[in-house]
Amino acid sequence: MDQFRYYMPTEVFFGKGIVKEKKELFRQLGQRAYIITYTIPGHHYALEDVTAVLEEFGIPYVVETGIEENPSTETVEQAAAKARDFAPDFIIGIGGGSPIDAAKAIGVLLANPDRKGGDLFTDGSLQSLPIIGIPTTAGTGAEVTHFSVLTRGDKDTKQAIAPRIFPRYALLDAAYLMEMPLRLSCATSIDALCHCLESYISTAGSELSRAICEIGFNYFSQCVGEMRAVLGDPQRTTSKTPYPFEIREKHMLVSLIGGFANTQTGTCLPHGMSYALTHNKHIPHGLACGLLIAEYLKIFKQPENVARVDRAIKLCGFRDLEDFSEFIDSMLLLKGDFTPTPEEIEAYAEEFAQQRHRFARHPEPAGKAEVLRIYTNSLLNKRR
Ligand SMILES: [Fe+2]
Repeated sequence: MDQFRYYMPTEVFFGKGIVKEKKELFRQLGQRAYIITYTIPGHHYALEDVTAVLEEFGIPYVVETGIEENPSTETVEQAAAKARDFAPDFIIGIGGGSPIDAAKAIGVLLANPDRKGGDLFTDGSLQSLPIIGIPTTAGTGAEVTHFSVLTRGDKDTKQAIAPRIFPRYALLDAAYLMEMPLRLSCATSIDALCHCLESYISTAGSELSRAICEIGFNYFSQCVGEMRAVLGDPQRTTSKTPYPFEIREKHMLVSLIGGFANTQTGTCLPHGMSYALTHNKHIPHGLACGLLIAEYLKIFKQPENVARVDRAIKLCGFRDLEDFSEFIDSMLLLKGDFTPTPEEIEAYAEEFAQQRHRFARHPEPAGKAEVLRIYTNSLLNKRR
C-alpha cells in the first residue's frame, strides 16, 4: 500500500436531539456566541435548539442572517465588523455550506482584527475562533471540512480561503433535514455523492479515504429506491416532508462521509468545472456538479480507472453508468433554460484548461479536449 495521511480533527456528534444532549460543549467554548445562519419562513428548528441552550446557560449571542448563497469576501468582512464590539468567544455556523463556510472566514477575521478580507486568501497561518458546525442540509459536509469558499468580486470567481479551518465540533441531527424542500434535497444529495465519487477517483485518494467513500456509496444505495419513489409520486414531491427520518439520516451520513473524503483529497474535474455554470448561469452548486458527473465518469480509458468507476457506480446501487446517468438526470430539478451556447462552452473550457492545477488530481492525461467533451456532452448533446 502507498503511504497516506489522514487528518480530521473535528469532533463529530450524530443523532436525534444531539444539540440539546451535548449542550455542555457550548458552555465550554466561552461566554459569548455569534451565530451565522439564514432565515426561513416558519420554524428554524436548529436555531431554536441552539438559542434555547445558550439562554439556559445565560450565554449572550448575536444572530447574523444576512449571508447570501456563495458568500462574498465583503459579506464576511461586514459580518465580522458587526460583531467586533460584541467580541464573541466562539461561532456557531448553522445551515448549508454558505453559513458554515462564512462562519469559518468570519472566525478568522474576528480572531485577527488587524486583518482584511484579502488576507484570507494569502495567509494560511491565520487561526479562527472555535466553531461549531450544525448542518441543516445534507450536501457540503462543511461541518467537517477545512474548506471555506468565498466569492471574490475582485477576481470574478469563487476561491477557498488559505487558512484550513476545521470546526471544533460538528453536531448532526437528521431532524433538521425533515422539511428541506425537494429541489434543495436533490441538489445537496448530488453534491454529497459527487464529493465521494470525485474523492474516490482522485489520485490523492488513499486506502482509507476510498474505504470511507465506499461506506458513503453504500448509504447512498440505501436511499436510491426511496428517492426514485419520491420523484415518481407527485404527492410526495410536493410534500413538506418527502422523506422519512431513516432516509434523512442516511442522506446526512453520505454528506458527512463526503466531507471526510473531500477534506483529505479535494474534489476533481466536475467540481472545478461546475463553478462556471454556477457563476455564469446561476445553477445551484449541487445541480451544476450533477450536470457534469456522469459524462465525467465516462471519459476514463485506463482499465484500473474504468474498474474503479464501475465499482463505485455498482456500490451506489446502479447497474451501469447509463443507469446512474438517468437517475442523476431525474434529480436535476432545474428551473428555466440555462443552456449555454457552444461559444460559451468553448470559453468555459478554454478558461478551465488554462488552470493546470485543476487537473492535478485527475488520474489520466487530460486537457481542454476532455473538458470540452464533458461540457458539450453534458450540456448540449444530452439535453437536446
Ligand atoms: Fe460540493
